[in-house]
Amino acid sequence: MRVYSGIQPTGRKHLGNYLGAIRHYVTGQEQAAAAGDESIFCVVDLHATTVAYDPKELRDRTYDTIAILLAAGIDPSQSVLYRQSDVPEAPELTWLLTSVTAHGELNRMHQFKEKSAQQRELVSAGLFLYPVLMAADMLAFRADRVPVGDDQRQHIELTRDIAERFNARFGEGQAILRAPEGVYPTVAARVMDLQQPEKKMSTSSGSVEGTVYVLDEPKAIEKKLKRAVTDSEDPPRIQRDVAAKPGVTNLIDILAATTDRTPDEVVASLADARGYGDLKVQAAQAVVETFAPLQERYRELREDEAAIEAALAVGAEKASAIAAPILADVREAMGVGPRR
Ligand code: TRP
Repeated sequence: MRVYSGIQPTGRKHLGNYLGAIRHYVTGQEQAAAAGDESIFCVVDLHATTVAYDPKELRDRTYDTIAILLAAGIDPSQSVLYRQSDVPEAPELTWLLTSVTAHGELNRMHQFKEKSAQQRELVSAGLFLYPVLMAADMLAFRADRVPVGDDQRQHIELTRDIAERFNARFGEGQAILRAPEGVYPTVAARVMDLQQPEKKMSTSSGSVEGTVYVLDEPKAIEKKLKRAVTDSEDPPRIQRDVAAKPGVTNLIDILAATTDRTPDEVVASLADARGYGDLKVQAAQAVVETFAPLQERYRELREDEAAIEAALAVGAEKASAIAAPILADVREAMGVGPRR
């Protein structure tokens, strides 16, 4: 089995990214290695060019993101870790798949509608084709499972449709491409904004004070958690209740996730607490302790771009070795290029 994850190269990964995704990549990689499965991680710098961006920033943020993944425990000898632009197969497949992708389908993508409305200068053709490149990422590797955020459901459904349409049109009875399965986070795995706990923690749409970054200084982490919005229930009650107590619920879930306990265990351990202060202090300490070793490794790794490039070169080679034969099948089936 092959598990494929695509990660945006925004260097500013936050607690929600860490608890909802990065942490699971690392455990997934270990389980995969034990079961003889494969994990592939792709930092999607080509997707980042579909909206206005600064070239120097993109290169730096891509290094930042790769260094965060390495620091968190992604091991390039156990997994395939590659930078999207280093491996030409998926971009080539993107073009080939446009032949079985309907213009109308792309026009209906929520993310395209939202992002195109935000663009001030140019709605690029790349933004429109974004979902086809994403489909090609997965299909070029015949990925079986793809862990993604809820917001990516429509893109995964499109990917499955593209794969099935491709097979029907060109496969002559064979499944040349594999429709991947999306794996979505459970509701409890969601980290909410500390200031607006009814909203997901997010770099783009959240509040600055309510977003804890993986690379925040311990002092900043403490400050943000201590100022987290709770509620004014009297007497204060430390209980999970997403609807009535979203702030408290979020803090319980964060403390549970960062101390490897269940929310119930956290609630029981705080049975004698008088206010929400203990919950906040403990959550702050647990987040600081979770990020401390990661931050230390990050600082060492990030300094050495040559070492990052060396790891990426290995990743690109492994990725191409998987994707090239799949692309050869696609080209053969589509009648492009020489006969095999
Ligand atoms: N679009 C995804 C996101 O915003 C990132 C991504 C690009 C991706 N290619 C992918 C995710 C392939 C999974 C598989 O999160």
